[in-house]
Amino acid sequence: MEDMTRATLDKAPADVSRMFDAVAGRYDAMNRVMTFGMEPRWRREVERAVGARQGMRILDLAAGTGASTAPFAKAGAATVACDFSAGMLVEGRRRHPGLTFVAGDALRLPFRDETFDVVTISFGLRNVASVEGALRELGRVARPGGRLVVLETATPPARPMRFANRVYTGRVMPRLARILSSDPSSYAYLAESAADWLTQPELAAAMRAAGWEQVAWRDLMFGVVAVHSASRPAEAAH
Ligand SMILES: C[S@@+](CC[C@H](N)C(=O)[O-])C[C@H]1O[C@@H](n2cnc3c(N)ncnc32)[C@H](O)[C@@H]1O
Repeated sequence: MEDMTRATLDKAPADVSRMFDAVAGRYDAMNRVMTFGMEPRWRREVERAVGARQGMRILDLAAGTGASTAPFAKAGAATVACDFSAGMLVEGRRRHPGLTFVAGDALRLPFRDETFDVVTISFGLRNVASVEGALRELGRVARPGGRLVVLETATPPARPMRFANRVYTGRVMPRLARILSSDPSSYAYLAESAADWLTQPELAAAMRAAGWEQVAWRDLMFGVVAVHSASRPAEAAH
């Protein structure tokens, strides 16, 4: 029973979307607990990097329940929340009736080339089957000169913090999930995928390989998470 909804590190799209369907109802509350209330601070860094304002077109990919999307719409930008989990979309529409939610897969986005000024993805990229494929798709739908902002788990550069983080994600998080979540096996996947995820320089290299330039990142909470940003070349060949 326990493994019915969890995904594996193959990140097969059907498994990942089914897993998020299963946790959608309690996702926001779990997020708050699992991040010890740090999540709003991390989201503010993303908001700063995105710089949403009226007249701007923004795509929030892997938007989930829309918690990562809502601030951009609030700032007046024309904002689209895109996700491939039907359960997350239902929950998102319930929580944020004013937001535009669109069903779509990161590897085949349902948008025309050069649609958005800024494309962003929070805690989504490490769940896609092809990181480079998703980064290229994001580049396709961003306008020339448009920007990319990625919030994702990261590797703390300092060894003691790296150790503490490994203990937290590997041991504490799955236990917390067993107590609090209706679907603890999903959180075991989320911990495993965080441990298996790219370091900050590796993600920066993947972004460059996918055609993004001016790649930079900022570590938050000693590198437990990081915000990467990049620009699409003004005259890009795709
Ligand atoms: C951890 S949640 C993050 C949600 C939200 N961005 C946030 O910060 O709270 C990851 C989301 O990524 C979505 N996702 C994973 N792989 C995807 C893909 N290939 N295409 C679209 N959405 C995807 C999942 O359905 C899930 O809603």
